[in-house]
Parts: sequence; C-alpha cells; structure tokens
Amino acid sequence: MLLSLATGCLVEGDPLYPGPDSLQAPGDVGAEADATPEEPPAFAAIAPILAARCGACHGDPPLSGLPSFPDHTRAAAFADRIIARIDQGNMPPVGLEPVTAAERALVAAWVAGGAPE
Ligand code: HEC
Repeated sequence: MLLSLATGCLVEGDPLYPGPDSLQAPGDVGAEADATPEEPPAFAAIAPILAARCGACHGDPPLSGLPSFPDHTRAAAFADRIIARIDQGNMPPVGLEPVTAAERALVAAWVAGGAPE
C-alpha cells in the first residue's frame, strides 16, 4: 500500500510537474500572480460603497442631470468613469467623506475584473 502510493506520487508528481514551464524560476510566483489575477470582488461588495459615498447624488433618482448607478446594470455601465472620478479625487465632491484607500482598491479590482455582478 505504502509502496504503491509512493509510486503513484512519483509518476504524477516530480518528473512531470515542472513540465514546459521549467524555464521559469521556481520561486517566481510574482509573474504567475500577474498572469492569473484573483477573482474580482462581486458587485455585492461594491454596492455599499457606492451607496454610502455616491448614493446621495447618483442614487435612484439621482440629482438632476447626473448619472445614476444604484444597481449592478447601471453601475457596470459607468464602471470606468466611476473609478476615473474616484482617482481624480473629486468624487464625492470636496467636503464629503472621501472614499478610503481600501474602498478604492475594491472598486478598482471590480472595474479591472470587468465589473461583474
Ligand atoms: C454631493 C453630490 C455628489 C456625490 C456624493 C457624488 N457625486 Fe459624482 N457628480 C456630482 C455632480 C454635481 C456631478 C457633475 C459635475 C461634475 O462632473 O463634476 C458629478 C459627476 C460625476 C461623474 C461624471 C458623469 C459623467 O457624465 O461622466 C461621475 C462618473 C461621478 N460623478 C461619479 C461619482 C462617484 C463614483 C461618486 C462616489 C464615490 C460620486 N460621484 C459622488 C455630485 C456628486
């Protein structure tokens, strides 16, 4: 039993594992992390941020003339502009509680991940 397990390990494991990627340094996990980004956050994680920071003016209904992004469909349509305005530092407008770094990181990851539901 022990012997057959060990044999199985050898066949499935060591000789084949490095495979065609063996040119890459084994410790180079950074490159792999870039190639396979983590799952983006779901809109459920973004909605409370938009509601708290933006909802007063971009809610449903929004202030007159402003875009409204209270739900996934409308927020996803504005995803690029939402993160752009947060990064410009003028949304929410001066005087209101700003988006925190952690909130900004979540929104950025959501936008970069294609603004999933
Ligand atoms: C106090 C009200 C208020 C809040 C809160 C607010 N905005 Fe705005 N927003 C405005 C006003 C007024 C404009 C139009 C003037 C301008 O573009 O600067 C605007 C414009 C925008 C636009 C430009 C729309 C376009 O046509 O491109 C975006 C995007 C935006 N806001 C995103 C946000 C985001 C994201 C938040 C929350 C992090 C937010 N806003 C919070 C008042 C607000």
